Amino acid sequence: MAKKLYIKTYGCQMNAYDSDRMADVLAAGGYEPCSNVEDADMVIVNTCHIREKASEKLYSDLGRLRLEKDAKARAGRRMLIGVAGCVAQADGEEILARAPYVDVVVGPQSYHQLPELVADVIATAKPQIALEFEEQAKFDLLPESTLRSDMAAFVSVQEGCDKFCTFCVVPYTRGAEYSRSVTTVLDEVKRLADRGAVEISLLGQNVNAYHGIAPDGSEWGLAKLIEAVANIHGIQRIRYTTSHPMDMQDDLIAAHGEIDALMPFLHLPIQSGSDAILKAMNRKHTASHYLNIVEKLRKVRPDIALSSDFIVGFPGESDADFEATLSLVETVEFAQAYSFKYSIRPGTPAGDYAAQIDEAVKEERLARLQDVIGTQQQRFNRRMVGTVQQVLLDKEGKRKGQCKGRSPYMQSVFVENAVHYRNSLVDVKIVAAYANSLLGEIVSADTQGENAAHGQARQKIHA
Ligand code: SAH
Ligand code: SF4
Ligand code: F3S
Repeated sequence: MAKKLYIKTYGCQMNAYDSDRMADVLAAGGYEPCSNVEDADMVIVNTCHIREKASEKLYSDLGRLRLEKDAKARAGRRMLIGVAGCVAQADGEEILARAPYVDVVVGPQSYHQLPELVADVIATAKPQIALEFEEQAKFDLLPESTLRSDMAAFVSVQEGCDKFCTFCVVPYTRGAEYSRSVTTVLDEVKRLADRGAVEISLLGQNVNAYHGIAPDGSEWGLAKLIEAVANIHGIQRIRYTTSHPMDMQDDLIAAHGEIDALMPFLHLPIQSGSDAILKAMNRKHTASHYLNIVEKLRKVRPDIALSSDFIVGFPGESDADFEATLSLVETVEFAQAYSFKYSIRPGTPAGDYAAQIDEAVKEERLARLQDVIGTQQQRFNRRMVGTVQQVLLDKEGKRKGQCKGRSPYMQSVFVENAVHYRNSLVDVKIVAAYANSLLGEIVSADTQGENAAHGQARQKIHA
């Protein structure tokens, strides 16, 4: 009987993608995915180190997993515990010191070694650690996916970061910037399209810094890659995340006006609206540079929905700095945005800055910022009411018969009594707007015919 694998994933989409790839590599070693810890013969926690709270989750999870492991052992069954992701990379041996019952600690660049690590645990009865950054990218050492058949699929095209923002752990946990070759990316997209994908999200910690080698030896930027992905049969929607303002080149901006499949949504983190803070963060751009990009984007794609990340309470942030952030938000008018209280990360330069900000001040600033962003998001959502949007209805909703999907602008859209339209790209009339989602009704008959055929093709794959 096949062994069962359960992976719990924290953090960014890159981690979600990596979890799927770990499942792929372990499938080759006889593990099939399951959806809970109780059934599992191996549990992997794929961790995030970005803020203190995210890191802490690992240790509370491990406490619970230990009880499960012990209970299974008493029943004569073995359960392995693996720790992957950015905390694995950052804490390494320390994880085994704090939790000696962990069997495998594996960093993001070493997932292809998982079957070997598991075999070594079993052969030696000792925990195994793999944290090297190898020359060859892990992607190209991992097997082709046999498990994925989502309509909205992710493809990592770039990993790592050379930017070294002073608050951020990513350059340390994910290593130097690396781009996959054009051919490996396009081959993966083709395989996903053959398995039913119509939407592709290109992923990277700094995805718009992509510079992959093409078959003719030239280097392609992200704009060219997007164009090639758009030409792959079956691909109707393309997104990419996460971008850095300094890598927002003119050809990429132009692509938003030229490539129909490129969705009118961009997540472009700025972090702060104050130039002094941006400098202390080592962001290498100013607020006006960012506003300039926004202006150019809106010129080529007036309806583009913008999203961003903000950090409040970065060391040294004065009231005036914070006001500059609020004012930037007012100027841009975002469709959505994430905001976080600055969290000290061990080993990063800003962690040692003297002028750390009081927790109470951070709380207050966060609440004010989120209030402004929330108002903008509601305004953006309300503008959709009465319009018809194409929605990729790829998920079940909470209520019976309800389906859920994304609008081109990345909003969650719920549709009642829509099971027949599940797994299709359908025209939906938006009838109500909420803080974080929209409610819609199916309108079009003809797109449905086409998509129903696509849906059947998918069912065949599942069968
Ligand atoms: N590569 C992306 C973001 C990666 S992390 C970029 O360049 O923007 C996602 C977000 O987490 C960041 O944009 C930032 O807003 C937030 N973040 C990163 N480090 C943080 C820290 N130490 N404290 C609080 N938020 C942080
Ligand atoms: Fe972190 Fe900055 Fe790199 Fe983004 S660009 S991953 S915030 S160091
Ligand atoms: Fe977290 Fe690592 Fe992603 S720190 S945000 S899982 S790159």
